[in-house]
Amino acid sequence: MKIVRSTSELREAMAWPRREGKRIGLVPTMGYFHEGHLSLIRAARRDCALVVVSLFVNPTQFGPGEDLDAYPRDEERDAELAEREGVDLLWIPSAEQMYPEGFATTVEVASDLTGVLEGAHRGPSHFRGVTTIVAKLFNSVQPDVAYFGRKDAQQALVIQRMIEDLDFPVEIRVLPTVREEDGLALSTRNAYLSPEERECALAISRGLRAAERVGDEGVTSPDALVEAAMTELRNAGIEPEYVEARSAEDLSPIAKLNGRPVLVAVAARVGKARLIDNVVITPTSANDPTEP
Ligand code: PAJ
Repeated sequence: MKIVRSTSELREAMAWPRREGKRIGLVPTMGYFHEGHLSLIRAARRDCALVVVSLFVNPTQFGPGEDLDAYPRDEERDAELAEREGVDLLWIPSAEQMYPEGFATTVEVASDLTGVLEGAHRGPSHFRGVTTIVAKLFNSVQPDVAYFGRKDAQQALVIQRMIEDLDFPVEIRVLPTVREEDGLALSTRNAYLSPEERECALAISRGLRAAERVGDEGVTSPDALVEAAMTELRNAGIEPEYVEARSAEDLSPIAKLNGRPVLVAVAARVGKARLIDNVVITPTSANDPTEP
């Protein structure tokens, strides 16, 4: 595995594989790898001849008062894990490299996709930061395929929109959320949790499973899904930032479950950690036990 830091080193390392027409896979990350990241890397390794992983804690997607400075970092361990997974190129740019003085361009998906859920709660600069950095990563690496996790379902939809709107010749793969055995979604921010807080945070995945069960019973009201999740959260003493059920395809509000996939998304603060999680429910029957 080669570690590169500057864009010119990256270009140089990619010149030959690109000339040879190798299939290039990119896994964008902010590092501190866990099994979620590794699942994306493994998928890229299976599909692609050249696997590039970027590691950059992108300052522009953190709002004022968010955890940019505290965000966990361990470059050495990340490099070992990446090497073990057979990554070809680990690209670790500096902030000066990505945002040199005079940097003035942003990429923004200006639609309801970025105005709801995380966009509404973290503010418009969050997704602007994400799409700007991902556009830069795409332009520098020029991957054939890029890998993202469903854990950040809204982020994946926003990036998909950007790819389509700006004609990036990149295919996007969105992979399932990797969880601990007890259900907790893996996240870099889980590192902030004390053992007691971790126990409490389990209510998030428990709530989402409760929503899934209600969905399986065939209810038609999205509020019933939200209520099921909310009950678990409240019982654990968590007052979430949001629990919402929206179209999993475009995040539009839904009045009634109609057989299309529904995203139930949660954001909640537990101790110092702001955690997000979601499930996608595809109702199989319109047989609502709560309606006569
Ligand atoms: P980061 O939080 O490091 O996540 C990198 C990728 O790993 C994202 O696509 C995310 O959805 C995925 N991921 C995180 N936890 C996961 C889990 N438990 N299961 C499956 N996939 C998981 O997301 C970012 O970085 C940044 O916003 C980035 C896209 C790199 C732009 O800066």
